[in-house]
Amino acid sequence: MATTLLVLNGPNLNMLGTREPAVYGKDTLADVEAQCRAAAQAHGLELEFAQTNHEGQMIDWIHQARGRVAGIVINPAAWTHTSVALHDALAAAEVPTIEVHISNVHKREAFRHHSYVSLVAIGVIAGLGTHGYTLAIEHFAKLLK
Ligand code: DQA
Repeated sequence: MATTLLVLNGPNLNMLGTREPAVYGKDTLADVEAQCRAAAQAHGLELEFAQTNHEGQMIDWIHQARGRVAGIVINPAAWTHTSVALHDALAAAEVPTIEVHISNVHKREAFRHHSYVSLVAIGVIAGLGTHGYTLAIEHFAKLLK
């Protein structure tokens, strides 16, 4: 059976490429998906990629990942800093999770310094641009070898 990774993206990330390019760069979400698929393919991993602006949808996807995928790479976007529900969904799913942020949230406003997701993540990558997604996939590839 193929090993599957799930890459999840939270609110406003559908606007990548045009959204505050000085902060988030010029890559679109389609570019990020292509990078993720290339990284997964290089390691013989299946990849699912999704984005939503609806918190309940994100929580449903996380529940459905339980027992089904080997790892989650998530950019929870603004829900990082607000959502106990997202924390609880990831805790319930019991799937190893890597949290990714395109920007260095620790260099930004104080409200971005706290993450509910970090408490349930095996690791966090922030500030390396969209390359952070590739690095997270490569880390899972190494863990799954
Ligand atoms: C983000 C950082 C968050 O603070 C912000 O709300 C986002 C994107 C990032 O990728 O840098 O939407 O997760």
